[in-house]
Amino acid sequence: MPEVDLFIDLDAIAANYTRLRAEADGRRVAAVVKADAYGLGAGPVGRRLQAAGCADFFVARLAEGLALRRHLPQARIVVLEGPVQGEVADFVAGSLVPALNTPGQVTLWSEAGRGLERPLPAALHLDTGMCRLGLSRAEVAALDAARLRGIDVTLVMSHLACADEADHELNARQLARFTEMSGSLPAVLRSFANSSGIFLGSDYHFDLLRPGAALYGINPTPGRPNPMLPVVRIQAPVLQVHRLDAPGTVGYGAVHATCSGSRIATVGVGYADGYMRGAGAGGVAMIAGREVPIVGRISMDLMTLDVTALDEHEVDIGTPVELLTAPGGIDRVAEAAGTIGYELLTRLGQRFRRVYRGSTGA
Ligand SMILES: Cc1ncc(COP(=O)(O)O)c(C=O)c1O
Repeated sequence: MPEVDLFIDLDAIAANYTRLRAEADGRRVAAVVKADAYGLGAGPVGRRLQAAGCADFFVARLAEGLALRRHLPQARIVVLEGPVQGEVADFVAGSLVPALNTPGQVTLWSEAGRGLERPLPAALHLDTGMCRLGLSRAEVAALDAARLRGIDVTLVMSHLACADEADHELNARQLARFTEMSGSLPAVLRSFANSSGIFLGSDYHFDLLRPGAALYGINPTPGRPNPMLPVVRIQAPVLQVHRLDAPGTVGYGAVHATCSGSRIATVGVGYADGYMRGAGAGGVAMIAGREVPIVGRISMDLMTLDVTALDEHEVDIGTPVELLTAPGGIDRVAEAAGTIGYELLTRLGQRFRRVYRGSTGA
């Protein structure tokens, strides 16, 4: 079985970072690199972004923070899920900044700071309407100086629930709540906008922007042209070409009928690689710069393409096939599968050989 490559363009990620910084009028822009930088490799992605000027990184979990610390000894790394009992020592040893989401986490961190006799940096995460993680309005109101003793509040943050729907009324409500709730807190920086939030306008920007998806080429402005550069590309060789001399069907369930004279090319990428089964119908691959339809059901390791429209000599065993690069990119593939680019990216499998392109930032 030949290798299937997942090309990751680090220079495109860096260019996307610069583009977002311009959109934010030069304000400080962090990078969200949780879930292994949305599946693309937090180490290489983090180092490249650091070389592009990024100093602040967000991960979801302690283990992700500790792993990233090995690649980025100097960066500020915020861990969104914050500490639970028993994790404090690892947070401190890794110089990780927890997002404190509950009064219990505030107490835990305050006790740790007092115990060490030095204030420990932390982010306060406010729930402004998403009801997922974060302190409520009443919990914030109860945060007096005594409760915050031992904590150096370096960041106050909240997260938008509907930033990708620019007209959603919750955006303005969350903005008003964030402005009001954060106003009463001591903080050096305020952080509110994710990728789509950056495109809601400067009212949403505050001091530190927090994009993930847009860095990796996902469209932060759904329904409008994608302002970001594409970052990922799958390249796999054709494994076999069937030249049909009678009508037949293709693949599991025999759901796709072919006519005599059709040519079907088989490629070694399937749903076990993260290319979702639902992305088959209506999906396309690229061969020599031309779109070819995916036909039949995507199976675990394989997919099939109707290459009848291409010349015989253009498609044979070994011909390179590209996935995710047709107009619309990852977002289009994800939509065909009834999901979003985020889910597609984070599921792209471990069977691919990840090939990094561009400067490594090392
Ligand atoms: C708290 C928080 N901030 C920022 C982000 C980055 O969001 P996006 O990838 O939409 O830019 C996420 C991602 O889900 C998040 O959970």
